[in-house]
Amino acid sequence: MIELFQAVNWQMTVGERAALAGVLAEVHSFDLAAPTGAAAELSQVKWHIGDSHELLPETLRQLEARGVNVEFVLVDGDHTADGVRRDVEDLLASGSIRKTIILLHDTANEEVRRGLEEVPYRSYPKVRAVDLDFVPGYLVKSSPFHHEVWGGFGLIVIDEDGSPEHGMHLVSEIAYPASTVLVSYRDRLLDPAAQGNGATSDHREVDRLKAAIAELEKRLALITNSKSWRVTAPLRRIAAALRRRGAQAP
Ligand SMILES: C[S@@+](CC[C@H](N)C(=O)[O-])C[C@H]1O[C@@H](n2cnc3c(N)ncnc32)[C@H](O)[C@@H]1O
Repeated sequence: MIELFQAVNWQMTVGERAALAGVLAEVHSFDLAAPTGAAAELSQVKWHIGDSHELLPETLRQLEARGVNVEFVLVDGDHTADGVRRDVEDLLASGSIRKTIILLHDTANEEVRRGLEEVPYRSYPKVRAVDLDFVPGYLVKSSPFHHEVWGGFGLIVIDEDGSPEHGMHLVSEIAYPASTVLVSYRDRLLDPAAQGNGATSDHREVDRLKAAIAELEKRLALITNSKSWRVTAPLRRIAAALRRRGAQAP
């Protein structure tokens, strides 16, 4: 995949090369269920029907033995924390994952996210970048997943020969984790007490500021009504006139 986007001496455009690579690609799909409809007709797909935790390590071993480099992986199977962590760790441990783009679906979901955050990415030197918010997810507002947090793509860039990434401008380096933001927003939305607390603290602040203004007005009134303030009024008028004249002077 990475080589496809490098400038080399090809007459084909990058898009044409990508299309050609797609047509020639060998695809492995892992699912508990067999494909149905048009998917079942796809001739370049090898269907592995069963548990990915058994089938994936075995297939990766076979690919490694053939010297194959897997160029692209989409992880969107077992959504339990332990399940997704195992799928990713099986991939990272394999010698067939050398120059690879791995996309992880549903990284905004709390359960999926928990599993992905447990993966020890730094212990694999070939991992160049990890961005669990490559495409941030969303809080669902309609049924059937009302108020659940789903979606989002995570990205893992693998390049065993590459230098450490510089300036890749990853979302996770500049933004709060999408999953945490969405979950806390959802929790506030669903918890009237939390909403009340927010509103109450706003009201408390307004009350505090009102009291401070009233106190200042009281002190000002005390000053302006005092005898010394009235006695010194002519002096203030003279001082003000001098200031005005000073301001007008060339
Ligand atoms: C959310 S669906 C995603 C399907 C597809 N990527 C899509 O977007 O339509 C998750 C799929 O993972 C499969 N799955 C769940 N656990 C699995 C496991 N341990 N091994 C293999 N497949 C699994 C399910 O059967 C289901 O088809």
